[in-house]
Order: sequence, then structure tokens, then C-alpha cells
Amino acid sequence: MKAIDIRNKYLNFFKNREHSVLPSAPLIPENDPSVLFTTAGMQPLVPYLLGEKHPAGTRLTDYQKCVRTVDIEEVGDNRHLTYFEMLGNWSLGDYFKKESIKMSFDFLTKELEIPVEKLSVTVFAGDEDAPRDEESASIWKEVGMPEQHIYYFGKEDNWWIAGEEGPCGPDTEMFYDTGKEPCSEHCNPSCGCGKYVEIWNNVFMEYYKTKQGKYSKLKQKNVDTGLGLERMTMLLQGKETPYDTELFAKVMEKLTQLAKCDNITSRRIVAEHLRSSMMIICDGGRPSNVERGYVLRRLIRRMTRHLNKLGIDLNELPNLIELNIEILKELYPELEKNKETIKQVLIEEKDKFMKTLHHGEKEFEKAMNKIKQENMQKVEGQVVFRLYDTYGFPPEVTSDLAQEQGYCIDMEEFQKLYKEHQEKSRMGSEQKFKGGLADQNEETICYHTATHLLNAALKITVDKNVHQKGSNITQERMRFDFSCDHKLTQEEIQKTEALVNEWIQQALPVTQEEMKKEEAIKTGAECMFIEKYPDIVTVYSIGDVSKELCGGPHVKNTSELGIFKIKKEEASSAGVRRIKAVLIK
Ligand code: SER
Repeated sequence: MKAIDIRNKYLNFFKNREHSVLPSAPLIPENDPSVLFTTAGMQPLVPYLLGEKHPAGTRLTDYQKCVRTVDIEEVGDNRHLTYFEMLGNWSLGDYFKKESIKMSFDFLTKELEIPVEKLSVTVFAGDEDAPRDEESASIWKEVGMPEQHIYYFGKEDNWWIAGEEGPCGPDTEMFYDTGKEPCSEHCNPSCGCGKYVEIWNNVFMEYYKTKQGKYSKLKQKNVDTGLGLERMTMLLQGKETPYDTELFAKVMEKLTQLAKCDNITSRRIVAEHLRSSMMIICDGGRPSNVERGYVLRRLIRRMTRHLNKLGIDLNELPNLIELNIEILKELYPELEKNKETIKQVLIEEKDKFMKTLHHGEKEFEKAMNKIKQENMQKVEGQVVFRLYDTYGFPPEVTSDLAQEQGYCIDMEEFQKLYKEHQEKSRMGSEQKFKGGLADQNEETICYHTATHLLNAALKITVDKNVHQKGSNITQERMRFDFSCDHKLTQEEIQKTEALVNEWIQQALPVTQEEMKKEEAIKTGAECMFIEKYPDIVTVYSIGDVSKELCGGPHVKNTSELGIFKIKKEEASSAGVRRIKAVLIK
């Protein structure tokens, strides 16, 4: 069975069981700073898992494009991927464990025709936060899972949460037995030897974990499931790795043809990073030195370096992109539509990297001379990090080059500096939550301040209970989502526009102040998701018309904004309206 057939079977199966089929959300989340990319099917659904009503109902299914980069260094082995597709089904306060487990069992055994002997499942063993999940275990037995195929594990295996805080709960995971010999007499689905491969995860979301580590019951019990498409495709086709399936096989072959030497790890890295970066660019990602742009840059650079390592002419890149589009267009028709952009971005970045490599090598030689003069034993982490950060030199390259001259690098120190850098960029992305700012330049900063004014104005012209639900800013326009139960009248729109313009004309000063989060709340400062902010926050005030928790940046005075014009007012989702507006200068 091909990947596309598995996807279609899945969506149809759940559609026939009253689930609405949703389109995949983009890989780049619009208003979630806690992650750089969409990392699971549940992520775009978080507001609904927390109780907001979904316009498509209480039973949902979709395929979701996902990128996870925590394991980027592992790519090249036989299983880690940075890009993957997750099939999922959700119950928003609708069915719970019984129906969920039964549907999963039926899909696996009847639709995909996996023999039950090949399946094992795990359930939560219980601890001080939540009880042992005997309920799931007994449902598994009822539907036909042999008792000896049911395992109990603790939080590390059978509890799911995205990140540190948020909706969470015990899960039950399904595993496929590849038929390999057990690694020991204790071999089991959690041992990681490769005999058992995880295929599906059903999370029974009943809790919310706060940043402080406290668990409280969610108002509504939900089910969130995720099934990895590439893995399922590989298993059903009896292949050892995803690279042997139709998703990668042709690219892998082409790389073999082009390569001057064979190195399977390098070929996998090229094939995987090429696909991943194409998907990210297709959804609007662009390489840069910060956050998601930095991840994309790393992917492209690593791919380029391995193309070099394989001795492949970099002018082959457009052909490899074309080939990948041919392979993937049935699954992702958007790739074909964005073909030219994908090519342009990838090629430009590759060219930039080649220049960088050139400069970096010179810099490396300078550093080596110093090391030799000073009789040092190894290349300091500082140097490795600077080459990485400033010249985009991956540490492995520095290590290779150092080794050629009989030196090694201080990897530990590098890792430390790298972690610090990551932490900074994570904090940066949290700060940017409010504005969803991709780039900060004069225009976007003006729009950011205008967002605060609009938020304040709506509370006066429409309803004091209006709250921001999201925003998105580009250099050309702003988009602002807010809670509101009706379509704005023409009069409301005009009044809002007039009020914002009045404040702009009043040339109000914009000031900022740091304070403890609790104090900020006491002052009545506006804020979207209080839990998402650090303990010390920045509060921006505009004259005395607006006060909001925000990471900035903002203009110094509202007179810098120009004329504010509302272009459109429309529905965004249930109970949420959206305003598109521009600033005319
Ligand atoms: N959110 C769960 C996971 O990522 C189930 O989809 O595994």
C-alpha cells in the first residue's frame, strides 16, 4: 500500500464514523510561540482541546504536515526524520477511551489488515498525578488484544504533553512487531531495540499541566491521536527504513547515480533535508539567522555539505527538487504551485553557504595558527561556536578540518554555548508571540503598535469584553483576530477606525516598563495567555489608552503610524472575528 492510499483510507474510515475532515494546517504556526513549527496534529487544535467550540463539530480528522528538529543530528540513521506527516483523529468532549480504542483496533486490523499477533499496546501504569489506566487495558482485552500483548509503563512512555505545559493525559500506544529476534528476555515495546515499532498514539486528554507542574482536570475530556504516515508506509511495505519506500526511493537512487562515492548516511541526509526544507519553504518559511529561519538554514546547509561530501555537482539541485516534486505532488499539490519559489530560495541559500564556507575556511586557518602558536591541545568551543554562528560552519566541518591537522575540537564547550544560544532564541520567540512578527523593521513595528491601538479601540467601540485571539503582521498589513459574537456593523467599523486615527493624531507617547507578572495583571494590563509569559514581563503603555504585556518592539510615538484604515472584517472561527487593516503613510 502506498502512503497516499494509507492516508485516504484513514480519512475515509473516520469520515464514515462522523468525523469532519479538516485540511492540514501550515507547517508554520500562526500564533503559537511555544514551537517554531507545527510538531503534531493536535497543535493547531489546542484552543479547541481547551474548550473553545470547533466550527466543524466534535469529531475531527486530518493529515498534518509536521516538522520536529530536536533529533536533527540523528537524521541519516534508519528512522529519524525532521519532516513527517501525522494522521490524526480527535474527539472534543465526544467519545472517549472505549470508542477511540475500538476504532483504532478496527482500522489497524480490518482496514490495514494487520494481523492481531503483530500488534502490542502500552497503557499508563499510574502515579501520584493520575491513576493506573485499567480502563484502557480492559477495553483492549475486550476488542481482542491478547493480554500478554498489553504492557504498563510510567509517564516517560505513556503520558503525552506538547512541551512543558498545556493539555495532557495518559496515552495508549500501539506497536508493530517487525518479527525481529527479541533483544533479551525482557524485550518489550519500550526497549527501543527495533523489534517493536510505535505506530499510533491515542492520548486521553483530561488534564492541564501548568508551568509550575500542577495538574488540573480539563473541563472537557478529549481524545487526540497521531499515526506517523512514513512509518506505517514502511512497515506495511515490509521495508527497513522510510528511505526504501516510494517517498524517498527515487531520490536515493538518483543520488547514488550522481555521487562519486557512496555514503548512505549522506544520501539519507540529503534526501531528508531536501524534502523537509522544500515543505517549509512551500509553507512560507525563509532562511534567516533566527528561530525558524535558522532551522531552515541549518537544514539547507547540512544538505549542501553532504552533497559536497558525496561529490555531487551542486548544479544538480534544481533537478533534485523537480524529482522530489514529482514524487510528492500527489500528497502535496502545493509543492507544484510553489515550485519556482522553492527552487529560488534553495538555490540562493546554497550559493550563500558556498561563499560562507569559503570565508569560514579562512577564519578557521587563522584560528588554527593561533592554536599552534599558543601550543593548545584542542580547538576551543568558543572558536567552534563562532565559526558556526557567524560563518554557518557546522561543528562537524570544523571537527573534520581540525582532525586533518591532528587536532580535535572541544565539543562539550561548543554544546554548552549552543544550548545557551538556543535558549536565547527560544525566549526571543516567546517574546514575539503577541505580534507574530516574522521580521522587525520600521513597517512591522508600526503595525505592531497599531495592533495595540486597535485592541484598545474595539473595547470601547464594540464591547469591553473583546479580547485578542491572535494577530499576524507583514510589512504590508496587519491582521487581528478577536473574540466577538457578531459581525461588526458598518458603524462599529467606522467608529473603530476613527478612534484609532484620533489616537494617532494625538501623538501619544509609547512607554515601556518591566515588572513582575502578577503586578502587571493587577494594573489591568491586557494579555492573551498569561501562562505563556516569563515571571518578569514588559508592559507597554500608549498614553493612557492602552496597556499590554508585550515583548515589543514598538514605535516611540503614535504619530509615526500614518493613517489607519480597516480593509476587511470577516469571520475567523466560531466566536472569533478578524480585521485586516493597513497603515497609509
Ligand atoms: N499528540 C500525540 C503525539 O504527537 C498524538 O497525536 O503523539
